[in-house]
Amino acid sequence: MRIIYLDGQFIPENEASISVFDRGYLFADSVYEVVSVIGGKLVDYAGHMGRLERSLSEMSIARILTEAQWLEILRTLIARNDLNEGLIYLQVSRGNPGDRSFYWPGADTRPTILAFTQMMALLDNPASMAGLSVVTLPDLRWGRADIKTTQLLYASMMKMEAKAAGADDAWLVRDDRITEGTSQNAHIVNADGVLVSHQLDRKILHGITRAAMLSLAGGLNISFEERPFSLAEAKAAREAFVTSASTFVMPVTRINGAAIGDGTPGPVATALRQAYIDWAWDNAI
Ligand code: PDD
Repeated sequence: MRIIYLDGQFIPENEASISVFDRGYLFADSVYEVVSVIGGKLVDYAGHMGRLERSLSEMSIARILTEAQWLEILRTLIARNDLNEGLIYLQVSRGNPGDRSFYWPGADTRPTILAFTQMMALLDNPASMAGLSVVTLPDLRWGRADIKTTQLLYASMMKMEAKAAGADDAWLVRDDRITEGTSQNAHIVNADGVLVSHQLDRKILHGITRAAMLSLAGGLNISFEERPFSLAEAKAAREAFVTSASTFVMPVTRINGAAIGDGTPGPVATALRQAYIDWAWDNAI
């Protein structure tokens, strides 16, 4: 049985309970992080903690744990669940004010803190050999996609629509430009061989894997531009790929049924995936 962390306690998953008035449950008033684990160690811990702090601050949710306390909790979860490879999910909600109200409660309401592990094969993911197929769908999310909230219903609906269309996932389109995937950042290597990735603004989540990937691209002398790209540019691209904590760098080989490049994972995405995995092994803590 999995041991989870909830509000100061490590308990079996079937003993955990959260109030029906918790604002995470009633209003999706909560932020989260997903951190990958390889060899029993956390990948890019500092990056994820930095973004958690930013999400909390954007939502004015009190920060009740220090980075060192979080590290101890996550390491305990890894040890108690014998997690070698997979993910850690952590969530902070505004807490339980004892009733339903749209207005935020006062400082006496303590945030609810939850974390759990998920076993998953990240390194030898067969999708990295075949590449993913994506379909484009409208980006109808709210205007603060940069805050990592648990308000994930639209992403979930679009994943279901992509699945119904026979694709692996969806890329979202706003104002004729691709913003990002439902749960990954989207990138292309365009017809000129330049890596193009949407700039950091409120339309996309500021991916931690994206940041590491772009800095590795710099080291590999891969030139890149941070700007939006259109579906037409993506379809004419040499390569396409996504990044996230759960996929690392993952090639995309079909968009709306059309092959990208020759329809197989390209050299840039393949090199960046390997570079990211090497970097992750070296830097996991
Ligand atoms: N999703 N964009 C969106 C909308 C995301 O939900 C995610 C992550 C990313 C990639 O961010 P990062 O590289 O920091 O994982 C981009 C996680 C994995 C999830 O919700 O499961």
